[in-house]
Amino acid sequence: MKILVTGGAGYIGSHTVVELLNANHDVIVVDDFSNSNPKVLKYIKEITKKDFVFIEGSLLDKALLDNIFKNNKIDVVIHFAGYKAVGESVKKPLMYYDNNLISTIYLLEIMEKYKVYNLAFSSSATVYGTPKKLPITENMTLHTTNPYGTTKLMIETILNDLKKSNEKWSIALLRYFNPIGAHESGLIGEEPNGIPNNLMPYIVEVASGKLKELKIFGNDYDTKDGTGVRDYIHVVDLAKGHVSAINYVNNNVGVEAFNLGTGIGYSVLDIVKSFERVNNVTIPYKIVERRPGDIAECYADVTKAKKMLDWSAEKTIDDMCRDAYQFILKNKD
Ligand code: UD1
Repeated sequence: MKILVTGGAGYIGSHTVVELLNANHDVIVVDDFSNSNPKVLKYIKEITKKDFVFIEGSLLDKALLDNIFKNNKIDVVIHFAGYKAVGESVKKPLMYYDNNLISTIYLLEIMEKYKVYNLAFSSSATVYGTPKKLPITENMTLHTTNPYGTTKLMIETILNDLKKSNEKWSIALLRYFNPIGAHESGLIGEEPNGIPNNLMPYIVEVASGKLKELKIFGNDYDTKDGTGVRDYIHVVDLAKGHVSAINYVNNNVGVEAFNLGTGIGYSVLDIVKSFERVNNVTIPYKIVERRPGDIAECYADVTKAKKMLDWSAEKTIDDMCRDAYQFILKNKD
């Protein structure tokens, strides 16, 4: 299939492009490098020994989008492009609504114009807000707690409306849990700007000596050791989930949401211990106040993805910790 990947130079996007090329798909990547680095394109080619088309630009550029669709017979779009920092979205809500919503609407308009109705959308478990029961199933009530999450939920709503307007649409809403880790080559991985907000990027910077100690946000949650529990998923497993999702949308119609996680919850201390053991390092940490907006526990019921996408995550928490650190060691400079 010919797949257009928006945001294909980013963290999850780049790993997905690798798996799409490995599965012999034709890939066109569009990315404006607003939160990614051009060197990633070279590394994808090095890993896969395959080529793909790259177009630098923003989805807000309607003429650029039109040209891509005019010049290529695209079968499926995977839409990653968008801003994704929760804290930043609270400070700059308009920037998030403007970029994430408008760019998606432009993309959908062009898809409609060129009769390309197959889409996999990069959503997030953030649409479940504070879950009322665990594990989380796709049919649970949705609500959000920050503008970033709201853009994901609004786009899901738009996509549901679109399907009602034309039954040809086939859309997978991929709700990611906590993607971590890196490609085992150590060539591509997560490179946050500035001081990381998320757990694993923070831990690797402590391990590599860039940051002094990890601050664990609370040890008084109602969890097995008091620290927050999440469903961490290896980014390569997540990328493979997209390959399954494009096969699904290509053979079905309608809108379906899928949880992409492992179904297993690990605490912050579990992650620290696993990271220390597999990488033979010490992670100094101190317990501090809870982070506002955090929930105690979040993990997926992954039955639906297993059944309908024939996909499930395979890598372990040790793989995630090892690969995340190897990437940083290889890219220290
Ligand atoms: C966050 C986002 C979520 C987004 C996801 C992307 C928030 C509130 N939520 O999820 O919308 O989809 O990232 O991966 O930001 N922790 C520490 N110390 C740290 C960092 C984190 O103790 O320095 C703890 C947190 O309290 C939490 C766990 O580690 O219990 C995971 O945190 P994080 O990696 O930021 O992910 P989420 O908050 O689950």
